[in-house]
Amino acid sequence: MSNRLIIFRCFFVTMPSCSLSEALEIRYVEDIDANPIEPCEIFLVGSFPGRSSPSGRLVLPRTLTLNCCNIDRAGVLRKIDELCHDVEELDLAQNSLNDLNEIDNILQHMPNLSFLNLSYNDMKNAITEKLTERENLRSLVLNCTYIPWSIVCNFLDAMPNLQELHLSLNDYSYVDLPSNKQYKNLKQLYICGNSLSSWNDVILIGKTFPNLESLIMANTQIPSIPEPSTWENLFQRLQTINFNYMLLSDWKDIDRLNHFKKLEDIRLQGIPILDSLSELERRQHLIAYLPSVIRLNGSAILQKEREDAERAFIRYFLSEQERPKRFYELEEIHGKLDPLVDVDLSPKKTAQVFVHFCEEQSTLTVNLQQSVQELKATLSDKFGLRPAKMRLFYIDQDMKDVCGPDELRYNNRKLYSYQIRDGDEFLVDSK
Ligand SMILES: *[C@@H]1O[C@H](CO)[C@@H](O)[C@H](O)[C@H]1NC(C)=O
Ligand SMILES: *[C@@H]1O[C@H](CO)[C@@H](O)[C@H](O)[C@H]1NC(C)=O
Ligand SMILES: *[C@@H]1O[C@H](CO)[C@@H](O)[C@H](O)[C@H]1NC(C)=O
Ligand SMILES: *[C@@H]1O[C@H](CO)[C@@H](O)[C@H](O)[C@H]1NC(C)=O
Repeated sequence: MSNRLIIFRCFFVTMPSCSLSEALEIRYVEDIDANPIEPCEIFLVGSFPGRSSPSGRLVLPRTLTLNCCNIDRAGVLRKIDELCHDVEELDLAQNSLNDLNEIDNILQHMPNLSFLNLSYNDMKNAITEKLTERENLRSLVLNCTYIPWSIVCNFLDAMPNLQELHLSLNDYSYVDLPSNKQYKNLKQLYICGNSLSSWNDVILIGKTFPNLESLIMANTQIPSIPEPSTWENLFQRLQTINFNYMLLSDWKDIDRLNHFKKLEDIRLQGIPILDSLSELERRQHLIAYLPSVIRLNGSAILQKEREDAERAFIRYFLSEQERPKRFYELEEIHGKLDPLVDVDLSPKKTAQVFVHFCEEQSTLTVNLQQSVQELKATLSDKFGLRPAKMRLFYIDQDMKDVCGPDELRYNNRKLYSYQIRDGDEFLVDSK
């Protein structure tokens, strides 16, 4: 970033529209002192803002950013050709470009361009136009342009080697791509923050971009995922998915994600089905449901984590009446787990204990939620010994030979905190 140079600030509020060639001219050709207040913000990345070619002509750096200049047209093409012939990355975000002919003119004079950012140019009313083919274009960013789908297709048709396309925040309520066309080189599609509401949109994306590897589709209104038979043969290469904040509310939907055959990296935050679970359970349930996923919400799932998650998932459903299919599949893998041994870490409610007083031994069911004081009151009734005169000792059956009785001195302490279990002993003595 150190060589990114901010030359002018943005004064777009009061700024008249201008052409790209004017913006370049003002910046590079005319005397800067003659134009003390420039409307443009120009970033230059590279060793030096401009340089001379062997023939003495000024050549701009390969990465050129002209934001908020109110550029709405190409201008003098010869000028663009002269200055921008070698530009590879062009960021014209936050301008006023919406005429495809003008965009075409600009692109024609940057034959080396591989990246184009047109975000925040309002293209809502742009008119369909055939663009000149641009084989070098790899990435196209059209966030927040409200660009109609027909024009997205104009771009796709003209850019056969496009690999990355951004269509976020475009106010789409559906995907409208022609079902008879395929763009086989597109690998990454970003289509976040559009109020898409049907899985049919996903299906259409799969049909149109058969080799997609990454589908970033956060913040949609899609409520459910239908039968995989209708879509599982699409997306043969999809590895990465972001479905954050999708409105999925049934675990069946999560299970169906496994029909993306190559899926290994998924983000699934903020989906309604997770609401009732704790933070840890969310992750564990998702891991348990998605056996081939190796990254969840951006962090790797290690073998140990998967094992623990799957076991926790089994135990979670041991006490439930209805168990999902996945429960039985995982039980096949991990065997039947004992809910008592390593599951139920919540305090037990009661314990059957032996109580010794003088020569007498009796059994007693104690409520472990009680305090020491409350137990003393119970024993006081039983043995006719005032609590104030009573000493109470606890004998852990496993520790009996090692450390002997432990006096319960703290009246307010809850009994469960002593880890009392069935078969332990209490010794009552008088002071
Ligand atoms: C494209 O432009 C938008 C708006 O200025 C900006 O936020 C984004 O970072 C740009 N993208 C790239 C990759 O330069
Ligand atoms: C970019 O331009 C240079 C010089 O004009 C050329 O040698 C190079 O092959 C071009 N790169 C691409 C990707 O077309
Ligand atoms: C818009 O495009 C840029 C890439 O230039 C990307 O980083 C950003 O996350 C996109 N999405 C949104 C919602 O801005
Ligand atoms: C997603 O995973 C990350 C990392 O494990 C975690 O911090 C985040 O809370 C998770 N969010 C949800 C909603 O599961």
